[in-house]
Amino acid sequence: MARNFLTIDDIAETLGITRQTVSKYIREKELNAVKINKSYRVPFRDFELFLSRNATISEVKVDFRRSRNCQLDYAGRTDESEILSGYSAGVLQEVDIQHDQPWNQFIFGDNYLILKKLLPDLKEKVDLVYIDPPFGTGQDFINRDNDLAYSDSLVNQEFLEFMRKRLYLMRECLSPRGSIYLHIDKKIGHYVKVIMDEVFGYDNFINDITRIKCNPKNFARNAYGNYSDMILFYARNRDENIFAGIRQPLSEREVEKLFPKKHPKQGRYTTNPLHAPGETVDGDTGKPWKGLNPPKGRHWRYSRKVLTDLDRDGLVEWSDTGNPRKIVFARDHKGKKIQDVWEFKDKGLSYVSYPTQKNHEMLRQIILNSSVANSLVMDCFAGSGGTLQMAHRLGRRWIGMDNSLKSLDAVKKAFAKAGISCNYYNFVGLD
Ligand SMILES: C[S@@+](CC[C@H](N)C(=O)[O-])C[C@H]1O[C@@H](n2cnc3c(N)ncnc32)[C@H](O)[C@@H]1O
Repeated sequence: MARNFLTIDDIAETLGITRQTVSKYIREKELNAVKINKSYRVPFRDFELFLSRNATISEVKVDFRRSRNCQLDYAGRTDESEILSGYSAGVLQEVDIQHDQPWNQFIFGDNYLILKKLLPDLKEKVDLVYIDPPFGTGQDFINRDNDLAYSDSLVNQEFLEFMRKRLYLMRECLSPRGSIYLHIDKKIGHYVKVIMDEVFGYDNFINDITRIKCNPKNFARNAYGNYSDMILFYARNRDENIFAGIRQPLSEREVEKLFPKKHPKQGRYTTNPLHAPGETVDGDTGKPWKGLNPPKGRHWRYSRKVLTDLDRDGLVEWSDTGNPRKIVFARDHKGKKIQDVWEFKDKGLSYVSYPTQKNHEMLRQIILNSSVANSLVMDCFAGSGGTLQMAHRLGRRWIGMDNSLKSLDAVKKAFAKAGISCNYYNFVGLD
């Protein structure tokens, strides 16, 4: 896989300047770089941005290896440097201040302007972004009281550009170990993937997660049922991202299959051979244990001392013919690695406070895996505030935004019920 960053030496050579000068740019924060162990890495896009900001340097012919990004071309694309330059002139008006911490806040307003306003404070501070934006459907979404919650009115390239501009700002907010999960449907999702490749870098793509969202559908039309959507998962810097690798418990059926035997007191178990392929020529694992040699062409998996300890602890099962096997209990199984198809169904409209409200257990899995205690978690399309609630419950700090009054209502009600203190602000534009 192609590299998507440059070293100080690469940049010095490309620009024909000394390493010291490059280091100075990094020190003075003119050039963004990530420190890994003792060396710096400059992502391509940061280098490009640096070049576009420095007119004299940008005249230098630059010929560095690009990552495999594709780009969607459509009329009305704003230049990256324009998106990222300048700050929003608006103010955050305090509406209801419930605590004295700088985070745990909900800001009512357009997330583009809010992100532009907050970028100096949020830059590289956010460990996790989860967003579930409108899907470019052209539809209105009503809540269970039949009131309009939000209009998903932008479609086609207007929608893509709306997302692209915001994604650039979110990228800047991500910490070097941060990551973003973007929830989207399969009609527009593949276009959004290309936009995300452009913004975050093809090499920073981690997973396209298929999320089973509802029960199978039986529509009478010439198609397969559509019961899934997608979550695009990207890191700010691939392989540096926080990832707890939490595991999923085995289902009852899996436990029965993998652990077919039953111990009267200690529950389900299975047994594994105590030997492994390959002969030990001279070592302990090739010697007889309890009068038994390992079978021909094999060696004991453990030293004879460990074998004796296992046997003493009741962890060796002897067959009628005197063959020993290691006992492995189901209760010691660490769970299975989570794959890229998830089943987290959403509740129907009549059961939720906000339309398109996402499954809280799914959010819990994302937050547990891609943030740590005290991480800052951001949802700029917060809706009912599920991401923020779950982040709060898991001991993370959080920041939410939405421009729907029905979202603000839903968040206020849910937080009051859950006893969550939140500082509420209105973004007031001065432009
Ligand atoms: C699909 S809903 C999010 C639902 C949410 N994930 C939940 O579980 O409740 C999308 C949200 O984005 C909000 N939204 C759309 N455009 C926005 C903008 N420019 N700024 C802030 N919020 C916006 C809408 O008001 C809506 O609440």
